[in-house]
Amino acid sequence: MLPDLLPRPPAISMAEYRQRRIALLAQLPDNAAVVLPGASLVTRSRDSEFAFRQNSDFYYLTGLREPDGLLVLLPGRAEGESVVFCQDRDPALEAWTGRRLGAAGVVAEHGVDQAFENADRDEQLGTLLAGRELLYLPLDSGEAVAIAEEALHTAQAGLKRGRPALKGWLDISPLIHAMRLIKSDAEIALIRHAALISAHAHRRAMRASRPGLSEFQLQAELEHEFVWQGASGPAYSTIVGSGANACVLHYIENNAPLRDDGLVLIDAGAEFELYAGDITRTFPVTGQFSDAQRALYQVVLDAQVRAVSAVQPGATLADIHQGVVHDLTAGLIELGLLEGDVQARIDDESYRRFYLHSTSHWLGLDVHDVGTYRLDEQTPQPLTPGMVLTVEPGLYIPSDADIPDAYRGIGIRIEDNVVVTVDGHDVLTEDVPKQVAEIEALMAK
Ligand code: GLY
Ligand code: MN
Ligand code: MN
Repeated sequence: MLPDLLPRPPAISMAEYRQRRIALLAQLPDNAAVVLPGASLVTRSRDSEFAFRQNSDFYYLTGLREPDGLLVLLPGRAEGESVVFCQDRDPALEAWTGRRLGAAGVVAEHGVDQAFENADRDEQLGTLLAGRELLYLPLDSGEAVAIAEEALHTAQAGLKRGRPALKGWLDISPLIHAMRLIKSDAEIALIRHAALISAHAHRRAMRASRPGLSEFQLQAELEHEFVWQGASGPAYSTIVGSGANACVLHYIENNAPLRDDGLVLIDAGAEFELYAGDITRTFPVTGQFSDAQRALYQVVLDAQVRAVSAVQPGATLADIHQGVVHDLTAGLIELGLLEGDVQARIDDESYRRFYLHSTSHWLGLDVHDVGTYRLDEQTPQPLTPGMVLTVEPGLYIPSDADIPDAYRGIGIRIEDNVVVTVDGHDVLTEDVPKQVAEIEALMAK
């Protein structure tokens, strides 16, 4: 192993990807077909592209990381139910951009039943879809809808030759997203690793913090650690908000100097093997909380710790959020930032001046991962083993005239990543401190 490199979990096996396709196929009627395009390269400027990021649903079902793929699932097809279209082999191009798997490589390395190169796509796709009556596709994909429209067109021509008509199309996304909501052991190991890298990066930023640095220099510490550990980079734009910038929920300018009397809020997570970590910590630039900072921080921390402890099978994110709202509101009243009765301030929503986001979201291949939050209008999704979520309460105090000076412009959020287990939960982000004394001790080193 390389020096300083954290031990890595194994990649997800070809067998697991195959199992996922089989599980999805089993939910479809015999006359159906799934059409699921992968992502393409996106131009950043002129001849330069953004780093390629595969579409998460496509990746979940194939493990394939090349651009311009297309997965077609055909229940009951004798020659094979899983077909992938992929980039053409092209030695001249591959000299510039590297090896392409080609059809044979995709079958060998990804275990699909059959693969074709994109040069053959129009012809082969027409044959594969002929006679299928229901198309399942991601309805938010213009490319998939265009393929379905073409198939409809072809099918109408085919109808004259006595084939069954294409009856219409349905959204495949809810079926895939329900599967993605429950993570396998192999997926949890990868998320755990993304979280571990993220935790190391946060510790590194805490140790580096001092007045006079700029926010982007802490961003550099974090992202150095991500890449050093073999992550592809950040799973989302790194937020380093010092002072009142911490109150801007999606602050990504990261260009202000760190002041010696302020806190800094860092929301940053690594992407490892396409899985996201998502950690927020808030700490004093100098390593020492002031009394007002500590008092507010403790309110958020107590709410966060209680919320994490509530994660278990059968609990709901709605209940956990309600608990957080209660605890934060009670804390705000105790500090004099709200007045009166806790329930009254919850009912009139005056707490929302200081806390306006929700407490949790799913975490996985996407940082705001897919999966439903409600079974229906009234019924929140109960937590089940294998779900992975964040717990991230915060308080954001505006710099308004009616706010006591000591609290103005303080923004605090504390975010951990948590797996639901059979008998409770497992916190994946414990390697970065959140208790006041632990943070002060780490930063004093
Ligand atoms: N970093 C985005 C979030 O915490 O939801
Ligand atoms: Mn976050
Ligand atoms: Mn989050």
